[in-house]
Amino acid sequence: MDQYEIVYTSTAVKDMTSAELDELLRQSRNYNAAHSISGCLIYGDRQFLQLIEGPEIAVKALYAKICKDPRHTHPSVTWEGPTDVASFSGWRMLYALHQGERLKVFSGVSDLPVDLLIPARPTASPSVGRDVFDLIRKSIIEE
Ligand SMILES: Cc1cc2nc3c(=O)[nH]c(=O)nc-3n(C[C@H](O)[C@H](O)[C@H](O)COP(=O)(O)O)c2cc1C
Repeated sequence: MDQYEIVYTSTAVKDMTSAELDELLRQSRNYNAAHSISGCLIYGDRQFLQLIEGPEIAVKALYAKICKDPRHTHPSVTWEGPTDVASFSGWRMLYALHQGERLKVFSGVSDLPVDLLIPARPTASPSVGRDVFDLIRKSIIEE
């Protein structure tokens, strides 16, 4: 259905407070909803790992915007290409906090985050990055 996906990593210029992350997510969710974009943002240890998906033009335009954001540096695409389905469809931007070996996924469905044990650091490699999104998808969406 003409869906496109970009996965990238970047480094925050400073430790993000929860208020700053809330503000970033609020901004993102408004824009994403208006542009049929969904995805998942993981943050921890000053590293971002984000998947954005939606119509190709919209996703590329958003990524160009994100690259210019002064809150982070060194954005680097680990994977991009067409996908059959928007796998995080319905989540304008799912958010997960990465702490050590755990991911706390704030789905917004309940007040409590879903606590996942992850096999490796989400930013260690592109394939690990994709594995992490698969894990989140299975735990949050398919259950
Ligand atoms: C790590 C990171 C992820 C972001 N993800 C999104 C996103 O999914 N959607 C969005 O609209 N903005 C996102 N932003 C914010 C954009 O970079 C930008 O600040 C926002 O779209 C407002 O842009 P504008 O001032 O040009 O309207 C993100 C920023 C950072 C640092």
